[in-house]
Amino acid sequence: MRRPIIVANWKMHLGRAEEAVGLVRRIRHPLGRVPGVELVLCPPFTVLAVLAEMLRRSAIALGAQTMHWEDRGPHTGEVSPSMVAALCRYVILGHSERRATGGSDESDAAVNRKVQAALAHGLTPIICVGENAARNEAGETEGFVGAQVRAALAGLTVDQAGRCVFAYEPIWAIGTGRSASPAAANRTIGLTVRGTIADLFGETVAGAVRVQYGGSVTADNIADFMAMPEIDGALVGGASIGTGFVELVRRAVAAR
Ligand code: 13P
Repeated sequence: MRRPIIVANWKMHLGRAEEAVGLVRRIRHPLGRVPGVELVLCPPFTVLAVLAEMLRRSAIALGAQTMHWEDRGPHTGEVSPSMVAALCRYVILGHSERRATGGSDESDAAVNRKVQAALAHGLTPIICVGENAARNEAGETEGFVGAQVRAALAGLTVDQAGRCVFAYEPIWAIGTGRSASPAAANRTIGLTVRGTIADLFGETVAGAVRVQYGGSVTADNIADFMAMPEIDGALVGGASIGTGFVELVRRAVAAR
């Protein structure tokens, strides 16, 4: 049985200490009473340290929203794996909003280096993959997402691959209020994400890796995604940056 994992991606919101602490103060105890789900908050870098202190004895984990692969060096503005590992257990890698910049920062090759660096530092990478609307309409989802999964996992051992978490986030569903249908997301996650992992590392690893759905997940639709056999949780953007996140998590767990 794969343990469900729900991750809050705050993106570039709540980056001032008083805002972040204010929300966490209101949600941490109610969230702590929801059993059977792993919970991760991914706030901006600016508040990771204050939240790490606040959540020291909490079951709620922290994650960063990206990182560099090098441990030190002349990389102005970057945050290294060891800096992240000092505060967090998770790191989101390859989010489409970062891949979209077109630079090398979160290209397939860079994501692979970051995944390797994260694992070397004991971090759990949450690897985002997903196609845009044009590719979806052209029937290219399977080829495109499969290639992203392959690139992210290049050079990993079976043991390392088994420690990764994936998030299938179709780009056209992010922030649009138009989520994928649970059945379609379940199909892509099963056939393409898990199928590619099975090709590379075998059925046992593919059956153990957790794969989330992301893209306009709300308290109103989370139950439909959680009811799907291939979907192990959600990567939540907009609906995670308020107290409504507690109800979303409750409904997610109730639907399992
Ligand atoms: P929304 O939930 O706001 O659509 O964002 C999804 C996302 O990108 C999470 O990483």
